[in-house]
Amino acid sequence: MRKGGSLGPAWWAVKACTLQRSSDLWTLRAEMAYGPLRDGEPVFLVDARGRRYLKVLRAGHRITIRGTVLAGDDMIGGPEGTRVGEPTRESFLVFRPNHYDLVSQLARPAEPIFTKDVGSIVMRGGIAAGDRVIEAGVGSGMLTIALLKILGPEGRLTSYERRKDFAKTATDNVSQYYGHAPNWSIRIRDVSEGFEERDVDRIVADLPEPANLLDRFADPLRSGGVLICYVPTVLQFRDLREGLQAHPGFALAETFELLERDWHVEEPSVRPAHRMVAHTGFLTFARRTADH
Ligand SMILES: C[S@@+](CC[C@H](N)C(=O)[O-])C[C@H]1O[C@@H](n2cnc3c(N)ncnc32)[C@H](O)[C@@H]1O
Repeated sequence: MRKGGSLGPAWWAVKACTLQRSSDLWTLRAEMAYGPLRDGEPVFLVDARGRRYLKVLRAGHRITIRGTVLAGDDMIGGPEGTRVGEPTRESFLVFRPNHYDLVSQLARPAEPIFTKDVGSIVMRGGIAAGDRVIEAGVGSGMLTIALLKILGPEGRLTSYERRKDFAKTATDNVSQYYGHAPNWSIRIRDVSEGFEERDVDRIVADLPEPANLLDRFADPLRSGGVLICYVPTVLQFRDLREGLQAHPGFALAETFELLERDWHVEEPSVRPAHRMVAHTGFLTFARRTADH
């Protein structure tokens, strides 16, 4: 596998059917993530001014950016970090996208959770490889992709989304930007109707009214499990905290927000960036008790 070559999406489907164990699939995904660039893979191209262009590599196809033509075949089989372009025009560096690149580049019908917040959801929420996790509110699937990467082949993710069109967008994005995900299910359902799963380790909710859903969240979460809610406004998290305080099934609630400020580094001016994304959302974490 590390020797490279063109492996398109159809190859993925055939190969996946022949693999018996999920860890085989994981090894395969890891090879796709670290080996030479392959046919069907998403990449981003960066120009001299740092502008990024998210594209998909296709054998026999060309990518055109501002008149510069880049052949997919020139990048497929090569390493990430390769410089490609036309000597008389522009050149670009080619890399595989991470969560930040996807969130900043993809057109998305629903607002995704920013990368800085995903970091805390995972680490402060104690989400680890092998966990069983419910995601409530899938949007365009950006958090879904991040969670699948963390959970690994032995983990299990079930995402609930009430809108069919968002569920379709998320499914397309997972397939394009993550790959084959046999340990992921998406259920098109309003979570106020309840969850099918039981004994899950973590619930991550990114929807408007988590305060009204605490009984629903308590049902599938095992004792000791963590509920993680992401909401954009103070009134939403105030209601959530009041609800958690009154609910015997939850304890140890805490809420915070994260501010991230970029720096401009260009001699002789090394200073904070003039602009920043000053607000994204508030993160609330609570532990499931054995009381209720
Ligand atoms: C902000 S988006 C989620 C974005 C996602 N976390 C991401 O990073 O891409 C919120 C989603 O929750 C869904 N939603 C809102 N209320 C819901 C409910 N009661 N049950 C299921 N889905 C719901 C919306 O349709 C929307 O797709």
